[in-house]
Amino acid sequence: MNEFAVGMIGFGTIGSGVVKILQENRDILEARVGIPIRLARIADLDIKTDRGIRVDPSLLTTDAQQVLEDPNISLVIELIGGYEPARTFILEAIRNGKQVVTANKALLAAHGPEIFRAARDAGVDIGFEAAVAGGIPILRSLREGLVANRFEKVMAILNGTCNFILTAMTDNPGVSFEQVLREAQGMGYAEADPALDIDGLDAAQKLVLVLGLTHGIRVPVNRLYVEGIRNIDPFDIVMAREFSYKIKLLALIISHGDDVEARIHPTMLPAGHPLAGVDGVFNGIYLKGDMVDEQLFYGRGAGKEPTASAVIGDVIETARNVIGGKAGVVPPLGYAQDWTAPGRVLDIREIVTNYYVRVQAFDRPGVLSKIAGIMGEHSISIHSVSQKGRDKSGTVPVVFVTHLSKEADIQEASERIGRLDAVEDRPVIIRIEDDTLS
Ligand SMILES: NC(=O)c1ccc[n+]([C@@H]2O[C@H](COP(=O)([O-])OP(=O)(O)OC[C@H]3O[C@@H](n4cnc5c(N)ncnc54)[C@H](OP(=O)(O)O)[C@@H]3O)[C@@H](O)[C@H]2O)c1
Repeated sequence: MNEFAVGMIGFGTIGSGVVKILQENRDILEARVGIPIRLARIADLDIKTDRGIRVDPSLLTTDAQQVLEDPNISLVIELIGGYEPARTFILEAIRNGKQVVTANKALLAAHGPEIFRAARDAGVDIGFEAAVAGGIPILRSLREGLVANRFEKVMAILNGTCNFILTAMTDNPGVSFEQVLREAQGMGYAEADPALDIDGLDAAQKLVLVLGLTHGIRVPVNRLYVEGIRNIDPFDIVMAREFSYKIKLLALIISHGDDVEARIHPTMLPAGHPLAGVDGVFNGIYLKGDMVDEQLFYGRGAGKEPTASAVIGDVIETARNVIGGKAGVVPPLGYAQDWTAPGRVLDIREIVTNYYVRVQAFDRPGVLSKIAGIMGEHSISIHSVSQKGRDKSGTVPVVFVTHLSKEADIQEASERIGRLDAVEDRPVIIRIEDDTLS
């Protein structure tokens, strides 16, 4: 083999980053692989738009089949996103004996079992490092460098848009979620339709893949507990600061023997926790392995160059495998049989943690004892209570921090508290991850 030929489908943001790296870092890539990596074909529906990078026009085609059927191409990079035709293209590439690299978390979270099985049967590699945390090589680390460990806990900031918004709300007390979202959209950090990010689905798709690597367990996205950041109120951000916490949208995995908690929601974290310092559009993954103890991965979780860096990392690893006759040897999720480990994801109602509970109460005698009474009846013991001044609606925010409590009890108590005449609405609940609380 005197060169490694790759074809790419999708010449958008990440695709143009891939071309940039292949051009600008051609020399070091060749030095590291031993042979040149040649981009043989690029397919995109639109081959007229200037992508800000010069490519030989004869490489461009609007027909993806010209990539998928080219016998000289060893590896296909899929960068169009979405479910179809991305799924069909990837399966066809695999059927044609080609290696595959993709950044498509949505597709793999939904159709991963079918795609990974096809790759295994065909004996080809499928790389998807870019699908989780952009430029941070977390999947490879879980699959290889950290393979000796059982993972007790993983807490991750996997969505840069949410992290940017929560950081801006923390740095500018009083500013609303909607205001910051508009600012993020203006700066290109949030999509025109931000739902996928701010409602937590993007992070959930990534969590499905991470859980496959850390525990070998498969859970569909719609069976995960997912709560986004839309309802975060500036008041709760200020209270978090008063308690020396920061609010982050976390993807959490916590082991209980074979079973795991896997959930996504806004979380109060001690300001001194390593993840609390992961601000702005950055991503961070904190994990605790039984052998390595704590580790923190930090970096850019999206964007053209960082994500393309992960794509090229997979291309180079695959090229080395093909050259060495080892393609298809390392399973995609690092288990001899992917996604078949025993164990289940606990229902959210089964989890036990600490809670921040904010009740908007009318300032009347006896309200506090009624609320505390309901909590007591649901076995919720209170660690602290703070009451703030009356706000515009004539209600007083009363904030409880609980000792370790069961989610089902919190939900039931909160339902009952919300029905009290002296209370404006159902309480706001934010889960707390603080090892110093009992
Ligand atoms: N952007 C990021 O920061 C980021 C980070 C991590 C992972 N990713 C993932 O990377 C992938 C690509 O994202 P992106 O941001 O680069 O998207 P993008 O800018 O929208 O690029 C996708 C390109 O694919 C083209 N395309 C769509 N259908 C096609 C088809 N059937 N045949 C050929 N070309 C087709 C699109 O053309 P038209 O525009 O004409 O439809 C567009 O040029 C997605 O899976 C995404 O989730 C992105």
